[in-house]
Amino acid sequence: MALIELTKGLLPGRYRQMERAEMEERVRKIKEELGTSLFIPGHHYQKDEVIQFADAVGDSLQLAQVSAANRQAEHIVFCGVHFMAETADILTSEAQTVYLPDMRAGCSMADMADIYQTERAWSALQELFGDTIIPLTYVNSTAAIKAFTGRNGGSCVTSSNARSMVEWAFTEKPRILFLPDQHLGRNTAFDIGVPLEKMAVWNPVSDILEFEGNINDIQVILWKGHCSVHENFTVSNIQELRRTRPDMNIIVHPECRREVVALADDNGSTKYIIDAIERAEAGSAWAIGTEMNLVKRIIESHPDKDIVSLNPNMCPCLTMNRIDLPHLLWSLETIAAGERGNVIQVGNETAAEAKLSLARMLMRAY
Ligand code: 13P
Ligand code: SF4
Repeated sequence: MALIELTKGLLPGRYRQMERAEMEERVRKIKEELGTSLFIPGHHYQKDEVIQFADAVGDSLQLAQVSAANRQAEHIVFCGVHFMAETADILTSEAQTVYLPDMRAGCSMADMADIYQTERAWSALQELFGDTIIPLTYVNSTAAIKAFTGRNGGSCVTSSNARSMVEWAFTEKPRILFLPDQHLGRNTAFDIGVPLEKMAVWNPVSDILEFEGNINDIQVILWKGHCSVHENFTVSNIQELRRTRPDMNIIVHPECRREVVALADDNGSTKYIIDAIERAEAGSAWAIGTEMNLVKRIIESHPDKDIVSLNPNMCPCLTMNRIDLPHLLWSLETIAAGERGNVIQVGNETAAEAKLSLARMLMRAY
C-alpha cells in the first residue's frame, strides 16, 4: 500500500522499456481515436519527440490564447510546465480537463514567488507607498499569484506583451510591483523609459526592499526572481562572440539579465526570436540566447543561416524536458482507458480571481 502511494503519479516502468517507434505508433493511434476530443498544446521549449504530436505549438501567450479558444476538446494534454497547464485550466470550461503528463514539470522561476511571501510583501509595500501600486505578474507564476494580481486590480503579462501591459499599468497607478521575474520587469520598464535608478528590488527571503536613494522616486518594484535557464547567458558569452565572430547578430530573450540584453543587438519573446530568424536573410549569422530545444529546432529549420547558441554549453530547461514521449504516451493511454491521472485543477475561487488577471491581459494582447 505504501509503495503504491509512493509510485502514484510516477511513470510506470513499462514505458521505459518501450521502443521509440512503438510509442510513436501508439500515440498516433490514440490521437486518431480521440479526434477533436483531444487537444495537445506544446510550448516551443518542448523536445522534438513531443512537439511532433502537438496540435498547437506556441509561446506562453499563444498557448493561453489557443486554450481559451478551444471549446471542443474534452481532454487537454498540456506539453509545457505546471503554470501553463494551470492557465489552460483557468481559461477552459468545466467540461474540459487539463492534464500535465509529468507532474514534476514545474518552473523554478514560478516557484520563486509563493502567495504567503507575496501577501507579506504587499502589506509592507502598502504601508510604505499607500494605494499607489498595481501588481503585474508574468504568466510564469502560480495560479495563487495570478489570483492575487486579479483581486488587486492588476494583470498577467507574457514576454510577448510585457511592454504594452507595463504601459497600461502606468495609466492605472504610478507604481508597479512586477512578479516574479526581475529581469523581464527591469528590461521592459527600461525599454519604456523608466531609469534603472527608479527601480527597486523586493527580496522575498529577507522581506527587504533593496534600494538606494529616496524611496519616493521608486516607480517599479521588481520581485527578486529569475529564470535559471536564461540567467546562464552572460556578458562574457557576448564579449567572446564579439571577439571571435563580429559578424554575428545577437538576439536574446528578455528573461536574460539587463547587462546581457543591453549588449545584445536585439531582444524579444520566444515568438519574436522565431520571427526575427524567419525574416533574416539567407547567409546571415545569429547567436541566440534562449532555451536549447528551441535553438536546436531553429538551427535545423534554417540550414541557409549560420545559427549558434549564445552560450555553447547551454542545456535545455530541465523541467520542460520532463515531458517526454513516454510521459505523453502514458498520459494518453490513461485517458483512453477512461481514467484520470495527472489532472491540473485550480480551485474555483482562485480560478475566478486568476481569470480576471488573465482576461485583463488577453483583452489587450497583441
Ligand atoms: P515565452 O513563451 O513567453 O517566450 O516564455 C518563455 C519561457 O520561459 C516559458 O517558460
Ligand atoms: Fe521556467 Fe525558465 Fe524553464 Fe521557462 S525556461 S519554464 S521560465 S525555468
